[in-house]
Amino acid sequence: MDIIPFPEKIKLQAGEFRLTPETCILTNTANRWNADYLRGLLGSSTGFLLRIQTGGLVAKNVIRLHLDPGLARLGREGYRLEVRPDVIIIKAPGTAGVFYGIQTLRQLFPVEIEERCPVLGFEWQVPCVLIEDKPRFAWRGFMLDEGRHFQGKETMLLTLDLMALQKMNVLHWHLTEDQGWRIEIKKYPKLTEVGSRRAGTSKTILGKQHDGIPHSGFYNQDEIRKIVAYAAERCIMIVPEIEMPGHSLAALASYPELSCTGRPFEVATHFGIFPDIFCAGKDTVFTFLQEVLDEILELFPSPYIHIGGDEAPKKRWKECPDCQRRIREEGLKNEHSLQVYFTNRIAAYLDSKGRHVMGWNEILQDGLAKGAVVQFWARGRERLLAAIRTEKRAVVMSTYLDTYLDHSHNLMPLSRAYRYEPVPAGVDVNDVNSLLGLEFPLWSEWVPNRARLDYQAYPRLTAMAETGWTLKDKKDFKDFRRRLEKFLGRLSRLGVHYAPLKDAEPPKMKQWFGIFTVPQPQTGTAE
Ligand code: ACM
Ligand code: ZN
Repeated sequence: MDIIPFPEKIKLQAGEFRLTPETCILTNTANRWNADYLRGLLGSSTGFLLRIQTGGLVAKNVIRLHLDPGLARLGREGYRLEVRPDVIIIKAPGTAGVFYGIQTLRQLFPVEIEERCPVLGFEWQVPCVLIEDKPRFAWRGFMLDEGRHFQGKETMLLTLDLMALQKMNVLHWHLTEDQGWRIEIKKYPKLTEVGSRRAGTSKTILGKQHDGIPHSGFYNQDEIRKIVAYAAERCIMIVPEIEMPGHSLAALASYPELSCTGRPFEVATHFGIFPDIFCAGKDTVFTFLQEVLDEILELFPSPYIHIGGDEAPKKRWKECPDCQRRIREEGLKNEHSLQVYFTNRIAAYLDSKGRHVMGWNEILQDGLAKGAVVQFWARGRERLLAAIRTEKRAVVMSTYLDTYLDHSHNLMPLSRAYRYEPVPAGVDVNDVNSLLGLEFPLWSEWVPNRARLDYQAYPRLTAMAETGWTLKDKKDFKDFRRRLEKFLGRLSRLGVHYAPLKDAEPPKMKQWFGIFTVPQPQTGTAE
């Protein structure tokens, strides 16, 4: 069975089920949306417009989607899939489990099921099996940075479809950066009028010279609503990231009064860490951020709101009379405690609206609000262990050398991506509850388009998806590589420009030199 991510228990049985134009999908009202999704999934390639029946009995040639509270042991996302010659039964304690059962059934079909036009005269058969399955981690995330390069709605919808295929359930959407603000905020129109446009894009990693080709783009609120709804239908939570106090030059170019100096700024055309960040001393900055967040909360129902918090240099805060006054008045130790004050003030605001703040591990300092979720990417291992073991703080793992999809395939070959173990040494089973799961970020400095995005993400993201779902002792790289052959056939049909295996798993010699390779824009394979 070539299923990715590999299921917990699988037993092949004799015989097959054959899908025909007469096959009926039998469901209940709670699963109606799952039935519609399944009909759409099977419809493009087979050309069959399958009948959906809500309630009643159908004895033969039927796919049954059921909720079964008796399967509570499988958890919120687990399912049981049984294929017999006359019936396919997907049962789960919740509708998300039924959805994942559908994703597994999809992979039991030949890869032609992914074609987007009818394949005539094809036998649509699936082998008889019994599968029981549930995920290892609750948080199986992909992060896309659109601040550096705007990709647009079609790419986002395909991204969500591919995540669903791989049973991933969190899209962390990095929407604001030094190089671009990508979401309409009605109260502050300059964020997109000014902040979504830059004059050009850096040509090299170190130099400041840019190509002189303007780059722009943002999502209006209607588009955001549609993308959030599309994600929800695929059991994906979108966690928006509105970065603060650092990586905020696009916002400062739009509203310079939010900075410490009030100087005019330009949306950045090169990459790096910039000294100008939101001022932590002016109350008007918090009013602005809260009003931006009000619109964000209205658009995104996720319990978590990411506020970045990484790479915030303290130079301006050291020189700013407002920031220094804040430090004195609040009895803070220094500028680092001022960032804790900043995070906690936003955390308290989000808390008052029933949401949790989330940030990169730079927010993890003494005094950080208890409910703040930390995404761990670099440094501070001891602090991380203390956060998990002592504070029982919720943590998402994204250690950069193991998970950053912007790294070259030489530096992070497929085998390394596959072998990543998100539970740090020293964390035992009693602590893992606070480790929500893992996430794979794609920073887009050198990702100008879909082809490059696909080339960086695939097939590494597929390997990572298996780590998120499959039990550790069921993982096997050799077997994954075998199953991947068929999976790549699916990706090709879905129009994904994945990195060919010779790039994704380069010879050892190239891997040693990986650290020196400079990412060059290049296109991938398919289409
Ligand atoms: C990060 O990579 N700066 C979170
Ligand atoms: Zn200031």
